[in-house]
Amino acid sequence: MYTNKFGRLMLGLHFLKTTAVCGVVHWAAGRSGFSWTAVCKQRTLWLRRSTCREMERRSLLRHTGSQSASQTTVDPDELRRFQSLACKWWDEQGEFAALHAMNDLRVPFIRDNLLNLHRARHPGKPLAGLKILDVGCGGGLLTEPLGRLGAKVLGIDPVENSIGTAQLHSSFDPDLCERVSYQVCTLEELSGGEEEGVGHFDAVVASEVVEHLADVETFAFCCSQVLKPGGSLFITTMNKTNLSYVLGIVVAEQLLHIVPSGTHDWEKFISPVDLERLLESTGFSVQSVKGMLYNPLLRAWSWSDSTAINYALHAIKLSKQAEDSGLHPEDHTAETHS
Ligand SMILES: C[S@@+](CC[C@H](N)C(=O)[O-])C[C@H]1O[C@@H](n2cnc3c(N)ncnc32)[C@H](O)[C@@H]1O
Repeated sequence: MYTNKFGRLMLGLHFLKTTAVCGVVHWAAGRSGFSWTAVCKQRTLWLRRSTCREMERRSLLRHTGSQSASQTTVDPDELRRFQSLACKWWDEQGEFAALHAMNDLRVPFIRDNLLNLHRARHPGKPLAGLKILDVGCGGGLLTEPLGRLGAKVLGIDPVENSIGTAQLHSSFDPDLCERVSYQVCTLEELSGGEEEGVGHFDAVVASEVVEHLADVETFAFCCSQVLKPGGSLFITTMNKTNLSYVLGIVVAEQLLHIVPSGTHDWEKFISPVDLERLLESTGFSVQSVKGMLYNPLLRAWSWSDSTAINYALHAIKLSKQAEDSGLHPEDHTAETHS
């Protein structure tokens, strides 16, 4: 395990080196006879083999039809971690500062992609009439701005105290009372329930959540269950690269303390390619994937051509007909909301 982490650290540093940030480290390694090329080759082979194994496993799952909501997405260690931070959600300078700042990108990303599919009918409230599910909403950092854009938003999270914080915070804004609600539950519990279950939502949002789940396949399956045909899925998450290990874990958690130490487990990160494959095998069509970059000095996010660390993805749930006929979602009109 430690050997793996060391390898990732070295390869991440190697990447930084090529962008001229760690020239000194490279020089030192070169002098010690360390071969970056050999390590890179080994790592590439290992990645190829594990990708093949993962694809075989997913293909088996598809063909045996055993993909269902019977498994849980919950990792109890993750919930314990977020439980201990449940009163910190709205401290804009605290542990969740980067999530507060991320709203500058993710709110317009969600709004604009939804407006491309659904005509705005209410000036000032462009998302009015849309039902959005915010999975893993935490303290409601993203739920609230989506509600302010006029959508009816349900935020769910298995951590009771986070939902308590979210409810308390939104109660101070009378404007949100009618549009934002919260529930302590998981997505699989919601999708199995009667009331808010199958085919209910125009959009599902899961921002910085996928990397905390025990089972991403169950998550994708349940997203598809709760969405209307033509509904949108928005995910922001972290790529599984050596660079994301160095910057997302070593630098962000251990050196700069941008997020609390232990927040992320690199093994749970997922590449855009793997996420796309999983979603397309679950009946989605991926519309866009965009790289995101955090500048800790400015405490600001910007869009980036590179998806090597963080990225945002938008996918659309295909209707049964479109899925069967292989139609591209642009060929079918997304259901308009009432
Ligand atoms: C990094 S926080 C993101 C919170 C929020 N989406 C935001 O961006 O402000 C991850 C959230 O996922 C929640 N979470 C962890 N496991 C979950 C699961 N299995 N189902 C739903 N939410 C989960 C955590 O409780 C936590 O609130």
